[in-house]
Order: sequence, then C-alpha cells, then structure tokens
Amino acid sequence: MTLSLNPRAEALAISGIRQFFNQLVDYPDAINLTIGQPDFPTPEAVKKAGMEAIAANKTSYSHNAGLIELRQEVAAFFGDTYGLSYNPQTEIIITNGASEGLDSLLRTMIEEGDEVIIPAPCYTGYVPLVELNGGKAILLDTSDTGLVPDPERLEAAITNKTKAVLFNFPSNPTGVSLNKEETDALVKVLKNHEVFIISDEIYSENVFEGQHFSFACYEEIKDRTFLVHGLSKSHSMTGWRMGFLLGPEEYMQHVLKVHQYNTVCASLPSQHAAIEALQNNRFVPNEMNDAYKTRRDYVYGKLVEMGFDVVKPTGAFYIFPSIEKFGLSSFDFATRLLKEGGVAAVPGSAFTKYGEGFLRISYAYAMPTLEQAMERMAEWLKTVQVTERG
Ligand SMILES: Cc1ncc(COP(=O)(O)O)c(C=O)c1O
Repeated sequence: MTLSLNPRAEALAISGIRQFFNQLVDYPDAINLTIGQPDFPTPEAVKKAGMEAIAANKTSYSHNAGLIELRQEVAAFFGDTYGLSYNPQTEIIITNGASEGLDSLLRTMIEEGDEVIIPAPCYTGYVPLVELNGGKAILLDTSDTGLVPDPERLEAAITNKTKAVLFNFPSNPTGVSLNKEETDALVKVLKNHEVFIISDEIYSENVFEGQHFSFACYEEIKDRTFLVHGLSKSHSMTGWRMGFLLGPEEYMQHVLKVHQYNTVCASLPSQHAAIEALQNNRFVPNEMNDAYKTRRDYVYGKLVEMGFDVVKPTGAFYIFPSIEKFGLSSFDFATRLLKEGGVAAVPGSAFTKYGEGFLRISYAYAMPTLEQAMERMAEWLKTVQVTERG
C-alpha cells in the first residue's frame, strides 16, 4: 500500500549538492573545500556558559520568543552595531538557527501562489521553503551583473503577486556583499512597492572589506523588513542552533504563533551560551575575519593566476569563480576536479540554474590545506585546458 504525502514535499528536488557529496566518500584523499561552516571552535567562554547552564539545570523550556535577557542582548547588539532599534518584548524571536527563523517567517507570510523574488545564485534552502508553502520562487539572475542584483531587473520582476523579496548579502554561495550605493539603489525600487523585504544577514559580521549595510537601516522600508540572523557563522555555533528573527511587531506577533507551534522555543542552554557570545565576545568575528581575508587574498590570487574569471568576495568565506570558459557543466567540472584533481568544491548548479557555469569554493580551511588544494587544482587544470579549450 502506498499512501500519499503532501505533493509539495514529494516534489521538492534533492539538492544537487547531495548528489555531488555522495561521490565524496569514494575519494578519501581529496581535499574538501565544500564545507559552509567556520573552521574555528566555538569560543571557550561561550562553551563554558552553555555547560554551566546545563550543570545548573537550565534545561527547561523558555518563553516562546526566547529568554528576555537574550532578546535584550540581541536588541543591544543591533543597536550598537547598526543603530537599529528593536523592542525585545515584541520584535525579536530567538529561533533554532537562522533556518527555523526563515521557515517560521515564510510560513506566516506566504499564501498559495505568492511570488518571492530571490537574487540567484542563492543559498540552497530558499527555493524549497518557498515552494513547500505553495509560493513561487522568482529568481533574479545576478550571474551576468557581477553577482549583484540589478535594480532595473528587480523593478521588472515585481508583479501584483510579489509578496516578498529575499536578500542574502554577504552571500552564500558567492561571498559578494553590497556596498552602500548598491543597497541604496535596490531600496529605491523597493520603497515604491508594497512587498515584504526579508534579509538573511547571517554573514553580516563576516565582512572583511568595507562595511555591511543592513536593509533594516532604511526607514523607508523598515516597517516591512525582516532580518534573519544568528550566531552560526559569527561565533562558529552551527550546532548550537542559535538564530534571531527581527521584524515589526505588527507581523512578529503572528510569526511567534507559528514558531511556538513548530518548536515551542529555542534550546535553553544554547540561549545562555548566546548571551555570553553577545555580552562579552562580540570581538570574535573580527579575529576570524583576519584569517578569512588572508585566505581570500591567497585563493583569489591563485584563481586569477590559473586564468579564472572571478569576482573578489568581500564577506562570508566563499569564492565563486566562473568556469564557463572550460566548456564543462559545473557538475562535470566539479566531478572531474574531484576524481582527477583530488579537490572537492561545490558545482554552482547546486545554487539554482543561475549558478551554472560557476564553482563554489569555501576557504573556511587552514592555509596549508588551501595551499595544497590550489596546487592540485593548478596541476589538474593544465589537463583541462589542453582537452577542453582546444
Ligand atoms: C545564507 C544562509 N542562511 C541560513 C543558513 C542557515 O543557518 P543556521 O545554521 O543558523 O540555520 C546558512 C547556512 O549555511 C546560510 O548560508
């Protein structure tokens, strides 16, 4: 007997990433540059705060929106860092990672047939969440505009079905962040349309050149802008599942109900660890950024030397070279690089069709690993140039 499931769940595509990762086990000697998490441990003091919370039996449920002490810390952090003002009582929810924040928000927001515009290539989690809710993801191609969304294209993509525009800068997979002019230009379009703005700024603390500009800083759109955030990347806490969702009270009261029925609250020991991260360890991402910048410079330099066209990233820890001129699909390029060259990187096609023709390399790895990987890649590429370029 085969029972039927939600067709939307059945229709979700298995990510291209998975298909590629399945091959990795067969090449144990390959250097793996696929991972999307910092290679630093969670800071000692933060770990200690989590352990102390457990020892003191702080292992119960918390308020659905999270500990008020943590929400106050989150409000203070966004106030101090970006001059933003959020009411910790009504405008902040502590979520199980940024992922749950995004999920609860989209489930609160999307109705059947709603369109959500997403600049792409984009993070693998977005399109499935939109589709699972009966929405339609409208991808805004950035592959030919320097991986930065073009305001005119955005204007043209907005229809009367558009419910939201979902940004992620600094971006996974590209490492590109937006400067003030670029953000201004997008806001200029957005302010004339009645749409929500969702900004996943989980990498905002990992900008190591220039400054991060938050969409929430624009008064014209703040009353319909949501920030998706958390400590996974800034404090290397992916396994602690600490996310923050910030937005206008009018809407957040409804998101809170969805969050509550979904998950009750975020993990309490992790919330105590998060308080320590925000109270005494705000400097941590700066230390990581020093390392990321050195690595970025190295990997970027090597890729250019090898002949890749590549946008120099300014945030996160990814670089996204074009592989178009090598005449292979990104899946075939990555597969051959793995099998013949001994280096694993993610095919761009894992990040929607607009990622085709690119490769995502993570540099959340120590310099000796990156050096060896770049050496291997350069060697292997010589064989590709001969066969494919003709
Ligand atoms: C852009 C982006 N958003 C959200 C997430 C998920 O974050 P979390 O682990 O806090 O759920 C990731 C993780 O890689 C990401 O890259």
